[in-house]
Amino acid sequence: MSINLHDIVLTYPDGDNRLRALDDVDLHVRRGELVAVTGPSGSGKSSLLAVAGLLTTPDSGTVTIDGTDVTRLDRGARTDMRREKLGFVFQQSNLLPSLTATEQLQMITHLGGGSVRDSRARARELLCSLGLEGQLDRRPNQLSGGQRQRVAIARSLVNDPAVLLVDEPTSALDEERSREIVALLADISRERQVATVMVTHDLNQLDLVDSAYEMHSGALRPRQIATAAN
Ligand SMILES: Nc1ncnc2c1ncn2[C@@H]1O[C@H](COP(=O)(O)OP(=O)(O)OP(=O)(O)O)[C@@H](O)[C@H]1O
Ligand SMILES: [Mg+2]
Repeated sequence: MSINLHDIVLTYPDGDNRLRALDDVDLHVRRGELVAVTGPSGSGKSSLLAVAGLLTTPDSGTVTIDGTDVTRLDRGARTDMRREKLGFVFQQSNLLPSLTATEQLQMITHLGGGSVRDSRARARELLCSLGLEGQLDRRPNQLSGGQRQRVAIARSLVNDPAVLLVDEPTSALDEERSREIVALLADISRERQVATVMVTHDLNQLDLVDSAYEMHSGALRPRQIATAAN
């Protein structure tokens, strides 16, 4: 078991009341699995990732990562846990415009105190393993949308995460590119034994994931995966 959310409740202030963004949510994702979370806008998907990613502390419930309860760590321990165990990929790839693909990854190792030469070799190896051998020295404006998203995925893997949290990775991509990215995330999860949670609006790629859930007004329910399209 790699990430386990149990009975999570998260509320936000909403006028005189509180809005229940997550309503008794349970989610278990094992290493090696890619799990999709779908659901309408405003249903709580990003809130779920924020809790899983230790960016937001829930009102109640527990988050367990690799068997350790990480729900109420202090700020420093949370930051360490995020760096050591978690990888994030967002809707926009959030790459720094002035850095090459290699440098985007090197910066992460550098922040962790690693040597420049090792970080360069590791960055190149990771980028090549994601099919970016021709783009190592390009800046974001010289990359396609799909390539940018691959660089962002490579960057999320620099610290060998146990858990990968991915918010709408394909929303800026066409159908074919979207499918490649979801297939890539499935391969990464299996080969690197990462537990991946992917929020998506894209119902066409659900045959590629291990399981799928649907969020409705803060409640998470299993969703039937349609394989009839194959
Ligand atoms: N910081 C906040 N303060 C108050 N309310 C918030 C905050 N963040 C989110 N919300 C509310 O919580 C609910 C869930 O938001 P969330 O961002 O998790 O939805 P989502 O499913 O990711 O939507 P989308 O598909 O549009 O990204 C929404 O009603 C939203 O307005
Ligand atoms: Mg969202």
